[in-house]
Amino acid sequence: MLLDTSEVLVTSSEIRSMVERVGKSLNADYGDEELVVIGVLTGAYVFVADLVRELRMPVVVDFIQVSSYDGTVSSGQLTVKKDISVSIEGRNVLIVEDIIDTGYTLTKLKDMLLKRNPKSLKICTAFNKYERRVHNIDIDYKGICIPNKFIVGYGLDYDGEFRNLRDVCVVSQYGGN
Ligand code: IMP
Ligand code: MG
Repeated sequence: MLLDTSEVLVTSSEIRSMVERVGKSLNADYGDEELVVIGVLTGAYVFVADLVRELRMPVVVDFIQVSSYDGTVSSGQLTVKKDISVSIEGRNVLIVEDIIDTGYTLTKLKDMLLKRNPKSLKICTAFNKYERRVHNIDIDYKGICIPNKFIVGYGLDYDGEFRNLRDVCVVSQYGGN
């Protein structure tokens, strides 16, 4: 099967406007208070890089990598593959995701980080695939709503590829050998 990524869903200039809008909103809400930004690897690295450069308060950036599985395992579990290096106790924390789909990853991640007693914990996502939501989650800072399609670009991948695309594109498959 060959992959087609020629359909642009969100252009790089629409993404730039979104990043500015979300940045302004964060600046207004946090003022001069320090913010610990935690990017969820790998997909969020591009959004984090752009977003933190819009921020005017003191910012600390770190990353976490988790893998989640649901359904087949009775309990449903989140495995931390790479944890953050900073302590978040008593600090304002913002989790930054590339995309929220079923909401499973963020629900689990939020519960896990809340146990570390941050002063506040909010969620920000570049893209929101709301039609697929299974786990209800409050998203404090929403980027762009997208339909139920598999997208790549701006950090998002298909099997490790296409993270470098400037626009967000829809992946479709077409026949081939
Ligand atoms: P959730 O736990 O179902 O909300 O899954 C969120 C994660 O699934 C995201 O952080 C992405 O890594 C991945 N994901 C969901 N939809 C897409 C997509 O359309 N393109 C690329 N990755 C996606
Ligand atoms: Mg992700």
